[in-house]
Amino acid sequence: MALGAIGLVGFYLIATRYGAMAPITPVEVAALDAKLVEKGELLAAVGDCQVCHTRPGGEPYAGGLPLPTPFGTIYSTNITPDPATGIGAWSGEAFQRAMHQGIDREGNHLYPAFPYDHFALVTEDDVAALYAYLMTQPAVEYTQPANDMPFPFSFRPILEGWKILFHRPQVYQPDPERDEEWNRGAYLVAGLGHCGACHTPRNALGASDTSKFFGGSEAEGWYVPAIGAASHSPAGWTMDAYLNYLFDGRDEHHGIAGGPMGPVIDSLLEADEDDIFAIAAYLTSLKEEPSAEATKEVVTRVAALDWTEAERPGGANAPTDEGLLRGEQKFFDTCVRCHKERISSSMPTSLGLTAAMNAPTPDNALHTIIHGIKASRAAPQFTMPAQGDAISDDVMVDLVNYVRWRFTDLPAWTGVEDAIARSRAMGSH
Ligand code: HEC
Ligand code: HEC
Ligand code: HEC
Repeated sequence: MALGAIGLVGFYLIATRYGAMAPITPVEVAALDAKLVEKGELLAAVGDCQVCHTRPGGEPYAGGLPLPTPFGTIYSTNITPDPATGIGAWSGEAFQRAMHQGIDREGNHLYPAFPYDHFALVTEDDVAALYAYLMTQPAVEYTQPANDMPFPFSFRPILEGWKILFHRPQVYQPDPERDEEWNRGAYLVAGLGHCGACHTPRNALGASDTSKFFGGSEAEGWYVPAIGAASHSPAGWTMDAYLNYLFDGRDEHHGIAGGPMGPVIDSLLEADEDDIFAIAAYLTSLKEEPSAEATKEVVTRVAALDWTEAERPGGANAPTDEGLLRGEQKFFDTCVRCHKERISSSMPTSLGLTAAMNAPTPDNALHTIIHGIKASRAAPQFTMPAQGDAISDDVMVDLVNYVRWRFTDLPAWTGVEDAIARSRAMGSH
């Protein structure tokens, strides 16, 4: 009903409100300001443009990456300067309109899977820099597959209703009470970085629920932990921890940036360093930093749960439950060679400190165990072999229940069997 009404409103409003913008002859690359292009390149890294606009094995920015949403699968578009299949015929104004209002050159509504609800905060100058940079990229002729969405979601005019309800395009307004670095960080996090697209939960119509700002959510089948004030990470987040995480793709007291966070970090590697510092400074300001003593206390307490050389299945600290004992045996056989008492900083983080183990669902732990951790650009030496083929469903249940029992004080996960099936069905990240 509600959707029908939104659709109807949309139907009356569409054609009247947004016209097509005239095609242009492709921009002359030589005439572009080199400084502006360079700035655009650094900003594109914060915006993950290439992450979403490149399909596996495809040319950069040529599109075709499938993005699963609760409303169907949307394919990213070709944003190379090819005039026929990309955005080569788009003027700077058409590009601005897309970034701020989610309208394409021809006047069609775009889906917010393209995070324009965040990009609307980006200044016109920064959007112009992104445009200039994209225009210098090689033009690629490629058209993405058609979206796989059922009606009414496939009918773009319903997005008019969505925008009336949820989209308030306004460029970021600096907070005069805060310094320049804080404002820079806040601007990048809320705008181009679109961190909230994954870290803030969405309502039933797919819009960010801003009352639960950074409260944690779900993305591409991964649990997304809360960050900032709502973070419930065992070891609190300090400025240093954020810097390690953002620059190195992991922090000793929090673990690795896995799943959809991996490409975000890899993309940030190409960004301006000062911008990463600004992002870390802003994030740090959202919650009181723990003292060094408080961090040490938590880390020591959790590290005491790590396996020691002398330990054997069924020995000290062993569970009594039979399933958990089988899980312990599997952990000993397969995992302990890496996940044990940390005698060097090149070893994995104590499992009890990680978001995966402390999550309300077993999804991240399962994806990690089943699909492994591939070498990322930021943390190439931290890899883990995929175990999906080597561990049967029954043993996987025991193993996952065991690690949760052993490394946290939290209640056992429920729905582990279903989560295993979901994880197996999913491609590796
Ligand atoms: C989370 C994934 C995601 C990210 C990040 C992303 N895009 Fe997109 N973008 C999409 C999707 C999906 C579409 C297609 C939306 C549709 O078909 O309605 C799209 C569409 C567009 C369009 C409209 C193109 C057309 O032909 O209609 C432009 C322009 C664009 N993106 C530019 C960018 C830029 C610039 C960045 C980086 C600042 C960026 N995108 C980052 C997913 C993304
Ligand atoms: C595409 C979705 C996505 C986007 C966009 C995203 N994140 Fe994440 N983020 C995740 C996921 C998933 C995890 C959990 C990773 C894991 O458990 O290995 C995560 C984890 C984190 C963590 C670690 C939290 C913890 O307690 O372990 C931080 C910090 C973080 N993200 C910051 C950011 C910032 C800052 C941005 C914006 C620049 C951002 N994220 C954008 C999906 C995303
Ligand atoms: C070859 C070494 C190796 C083996 C074997 C291994 N892991 Fe890992 N594992 C790692 C590394 C490295 C990380 C990344 C941790 C970090 O950044 O500190 C990791 C991360 C994880 C995480 C995610 C923690 C996070 O940072 O978000 C889980 C859960 C996990 N491992 C469980 C297991 C289980 C269960 C097994 C046995 C089935 C196993 N691992 C086997 C090396 C290994």
